[in-house]
Amino acid sequence: MNLILLGAPGAGKGTQATKISDRYGIVHISTGDIFRANIKNATEIGLLAKSYLDRGALVPDEVTIAIVKDRLTWDDAAKGFLLDGFPRNLAQAEALDGFAKIDGVVNINIDHALLLDRICGRRVCKECGESYHVSTLGGATVCSRCGGELYRRKDDNPETVASRLAVYNEQTAPLIDYYTKKGVILNFTGTEAPAEVLFDEIKTALDAFNK
Ligand code: AP5
Ligand code: MG
Repeated sequence: MNLILLGAPGAGKGTQATKISDRYGIVHISTGDIFRANIKNATEIGLLAKSYLDRGALVPDEVTIAIVKDRLTWDDAAKGFLLDGFPRNLAQAEALDGFAKIDGVVNINIDHALLLDRICGRRVCKECGESYHVSTLGGATVCSRCGGELYRRKDDNPETVASRLAVYNEQTAPLIDYYTKKGVILNFTGTEAPAEVLFDEIKTALDAFNK
């Protein structure tokens, strides 16, 4: 099963991706995580990507598309994959059509009023990438999954979030229409309910879809 996760910044893509990838045994590929790993390791891609991530802009298409195209040739993607954060505009979606077959698009719609608190309260594990919200951590500073140290992403501040949302509205939201026309979209609504509630809905839809 080859899937895409679509949704605004903070919609819960990463949170649901871990659960979907565990349940269906498909690899989770997040372009945001790939860029952050490259920035951490000061690679050539990292040096280029940093200025874009820091201001909430998209990394140039040719760089991003080449990364995903290569990543999908790895052995672990042969059993299926879940793309989180790619494609993010029409050019990326059209390029993806040229090198992968997509079975379904899990689209998380969410009221944008919920996003600022979610994103600015997010803490992420340095080791395994699991996301938490400060309100549920009870003061904990390490990951309950692997014990890794939790940190706050540099782009999780109100100014950068505003830019990320504007980019989403202008460039990424039109992909909902693109994939609806292709007949592969599965629509969900993110709410204030715990992430497990949304995952139950996604699971029900994907179980039926995966038969
Ligand atoms: P990326 O890393 O993809 O960030 P994003 O799209 O802005 O999305 P987030 O990761 O912020 O949110 P999420 O939907 O994963 O939410 P999460 O599950 O963590 O991209 C970062 C940057 O990289 C981009 O700005 C761009 O510069 C670059 N980039 C990436 N891909 C690119 C591409 N294709 N082309 C060009 N550039 C690219 O949840 C958020 C918070 O909410 C967490 O605290 C979580 O615990 C909490 N939460 C989740 N679900 C619930 C729930 N049900 N109830 C309450 N809280 C919840
Ligand atoms: Mg994410």
